[in-house]
Amino acid sequence: MPPPPNSAYLFFLLTLLLCSFSAIASPFSTLAVSQLAPNITLVCALVPSDLLHRYDLNCTRASTGQQFLYRAGATPYGAVAAGNGFLCGLTLPSDKSNSTMRWWAFPDHGNETYEKRIYRGPALAALASGDTHVCGLKGGWPHCWRWKEIKFPPGIEFSDIAVGRNFVCGRKKSGGIGCYGSDMEVTNNVPDGNFSLLAAGTWHACAKSDAGRLTCWGSGAPVPDSDQPDIVSIALGENKTCVLRYNGTVLCWGKGSHPPESLAGEQFLRIQARGDAICGILLLNFSVVCWGNELFLQKHTVYKSVLPGTCSSPASSCVGCVVLPGSGNMCPSGEVICQSCQLDSNTTISLPPSQQIGSGRKRTVFVVLGSVGFILGLLVLLGFLVFRALRKRSNAGVHGSVRSNRRRQPLVMDSSLDGRLGGGTVEEFSLQFVLEITDNFSETHKIGSGSFGAVYRATLPDGREAAIKRANPASAAPFTSRRHEQLSRLDQEQRERAFCSELAVLSRINHKNLVRLLGFCRERGELVLVYEYMANGTLHDNLHRRPMVPSSPLSSWSTRLRLALDAARGIEYLHAYAVPPIIHRDIKSSNILLDEEWMAKVADFGLSLTNPEDEGSVAAGTVGYMDPEYYRLRRLTEKSDVYSFGIVLLELVTGYKAIHRSMEVEGEDGEAEGSTTPRNVVEMAVPYIETDEVARIMDRRVAPASSEEIEAVVYVGYVAAECVQAEGQDRPTMGEVVGALERVYAACSGATAARTESTAGRRVLSRAPSFM
Ligand SMILES: *[C@@H]1O[C@H](CO)[C@@H](O)[C@H](O)[C@H]1NC(C)=O
Ligand SMILES: *[C@@H]1O[C@H](CO)[C@@H](O)[C@H](O)[C@H]1NC(C)=O
Ligand SMILES: *[C@@H]1O[C@H](CO)[C@@H](O)[C@H](O)[C@H]1NC(C)=O
Ligand SMILES: *[C@@H]1O[C@H](CO)[C@@H](O)[C@H](O)[C@H]1NC(C)=O
Ligand SMILES: *[C@@H]1O[C@H](CO)[C@@H](O)[C@H](O)[C@H]1NC(C)=O
Ligand SMILES: *[C@@H]1O[C@H](CO)[C@@H](O)[C@H](O)[C@H]1NC(C)=O
Ligand SMILES: *[C@@H]1O[C@H](CO)[C@@H](O)[C@H](O)[C@H]1NC(C)=O
Ligand SMILES: *[C@@H]1O[C@H](CO)[C@@H](O)[C@H](O)[C@H]1NC(C)=O
Ligand SMILES: *[C@@H]1O[C@H](CO)[C@@H](O)[C@H](O)[C@H]1NC(C)=O
Repeated sequence: MPPPPNSAYLFFLLTLLLCSFSAIASPFSTLAVSQLAPNITLVCALVPSDLLHRYDLNCTRASTGQQFLYRAGATPYGAVAAGNGFLCGLTLPSDKSNSTMRWWAFPDHGNETYEKRIYRGPALAALASGDTHVCGLKGGWPHCWRWKEIKFPPGIEFSDIAVGRNFVCGRKKSGGIGCYGSDMEVTNNVPDGNFSLLAAGTWHACAKSDAGRLTCWGSGAPVPDSDQPDIVSIALGENKTCVLRYNGTVLCWGKGSHPPESLAGEQFLRIQARGDAICGILLLNFSVVCWGNELFLQKHTVYKSVLPGTCSSPASSCVGCVVLPGSGNMCPSGEVICQSCQLDSNTTISLPPSQQIGSGRKRTVFVVLGSVGFILGLLVLLGFLVFRALRKRSNAGVHGSVRSNRRRQPLVMDSSLDGRLGGGTVEEFSLQFVLEITDNFSETHKIGSGSFGAVYRATLPDGREAAIKRANPASAAPFTSRRHEQLSRLDQEQRERAFCSELAVLSRINHKNLVRLLGFCRERGELVLVYEYMANGTLHDNLHRRPMVPSSPLSSWSTRLRLALDAARGIEYLHAYAVPPIIHRDIKSSNILLDEEWMAKVADFGLSLTNPEDEGSVAAGTVGYMDPEYYRLRRLTEKSDVYSFGIVLLELVTGYKAIHRSMEVEGEDGEAEGSTTPRNVVEMAVPYIETDEVARIMDRRVAPASSEEIEAVVYVGYVAAECVQAEGQDRPTMGEVVGALERVYAACSGATAARTESTAGRRVLSRAPSFM
């Protein structure tokens, strides 16, 4: 029976449209399953974040319910993939900017997760993961990360990719399939013919032929007992095969793979499998439910609601597919989620066209009706989220009108401050008093000079040691050549401004990682600031003194990490907890001071700003530490401090100065003054970090590192590389940096402590604990 002409025409059009597309709307998934051990399953998905239109990556450990949250950066993750022990998040920017992919390892024990960026470049065409590896398509070229053994024939191009435990299969542009890797059962049994869908499990692969038949090969491949022409996607686990049909129902083969009674007949948007676990996103409410192993017997629902699919611009990818109703509200503006395309080019022929198109329509109607309630719900949620976002913004934002109503707060704080801070009272001293304790600013009291002026050491009557900074025109010049030009010639007005800024900032903050202001003196043109004395000087001097004093605490990695964490906490306080937030603008190792206990404190707030719009047209800061984006665009945000802090991290990891002269990385001395043109530590170190060769640039003046320490320092290298990203929006916040450093310090110092016990007597390590 030939189809009625109008359906035939419609069908022809659809076929035409679909010819260049594969059967699945998106080659990316927002749901991933990982198995750490036979009875430990992690289910990861993109879950609604506190912010509108944003989704964070969350993983739930099925046995315990324990959750891990991976906060999205500037560009949220659009797709996820996972294997047995790792998770990947990929950004899918809608503009032409580059995608990035991060990789996290779930260790088999504890809560630590190790993270690194493994890809940054043009958008990928597909992403797939197997039990141990993750692969994608760069354009049409297959590429696997952290899998050196896998080899593809030169010039091979795929339109789709699937990854098993020891093999990778791809659907060639021609429609045929190629499999590569060491699993001979799979690579030697690739079926001939043209296929429209492809999937891989642990030991087997399946594909849907153009004629609509499901074909599976490899070991333990469960064989479908009947023809299933209406398949829209396939998910394979270990000896389990599941398919998603046009009408959204799931059908599985293999022991224990059948959906339980309570889920039979449910409609799904997408399914994923790993090992013995099978999970899917329900069409009705976007809940994630799982089955297949006993962990899910009691409770199938893992997430109440997740981002049901990847967002994409409608024009480019929903051709011939149904737009998921309401998805415009979930995605960045102008984007939607395409549902699995229900009409697949060739299989449609094998079905009566009336049924085919009819069922498509019915589905659409069903989806629309079913979604009215959902959309209402979404609107309520949206309102709530807007409300929350606004509230959040008013708590954290630096820009815009919110600022005006926050400006009053410092005044309130200032007046209540003196009484509140025990021991933190800022006193006004008389010039007479200052002259007395410093012997008229005598040379014997002088301990250094900074951009602001000379620094003296003195003892207060109550016995406290103090550092006294004096703005003095005569003493300002010689030590400031490193600083930005504008600052090397501080005139009276600028000194005055720095003085006020420092006073304003320090009188209203109190944090153990920020240097404390004890008092000030402003009399007869003298501007004097009195601080707590920091017995061990600057981080810069300790780190770059050559040769390094053998007994220096900085010859231990765990101390270096702790100093980094101290300083990061101080800066995080300025950004996130000071009201209004403060941007330091001059973070550098010589502004990080060390007290007698070797605790690091951030100092020198002369350039700090609370209102980025207040600043003049000239960028301020120190060469070598200054955020290039800020320098170029004069747009100041907290991310400029993050950049500068990244430089400090690189100094700690490599032992190189921010700007240094050196011939080569492996040079014995690390630094050969005058040998070549000056180099930036970013240019020097970041390429090694990105190619996973941090060990080559680690400061060799530190005692040989244990494997835990190397792992920790490598990780700090990743954090540093993120901090010095060219664009501020790509950098982490200080809060994220602190979180990362806390984890890594805990891992490193835990290992150090353990090692100290077992190998007592080792020089550096046995000393380290006294600083913790
Ligand atoms: C998981 O399996 C291992 C060994 O197979 C066993 O030692 C462990 O207790 C199991 N854990 C749970 C939560 O069942
Ligand atoms: C995501 O994980 C965090 C814990 O890391 C948890 O507090 C939060 O509720 C989770 N979100 C969802 C939607 O499950
Ligand atoms: C893991 O985290 C949980 C709570 O989130 C905590 O109770 C447990 O002690 C942690 N385990 C380890 C090894 O840190
Ligand atoms: C994308 O990444 C490539 C390679 O890392 C880089 O050369 C290019 O400049 C990047 N493009 C954008 C727009 O960031
Ligand atoms: C597969 O498709 C190509 C065209 O894309 C065609 O030339 C070829 O004959 C097909 N092979 C089979 C076995 O159907
Ligand atoms: C899956 O099948 C393979 C090969 O038949 C077998 O070696 C393996 O033990 C099976 N795995 C499970 C979990 O049944
Ligand atoms: C889905 O389609 C299959 C046949 O393709 C049918 O057996 C099943 O009853 C349908 N389920 C629903 C809920 O429509
Ligand atoms: C989602 O829908 C399913 C049935 O369609 C139901 O069992 C489940 O409880 C729902 N989940 C939520 C969070 O409402
Ligand atoms: C669809 O099938 C026909 C034969 O039935 C074949 O000639 C054609 O190449 C197929 N189209 C695609 C896109 O594979």
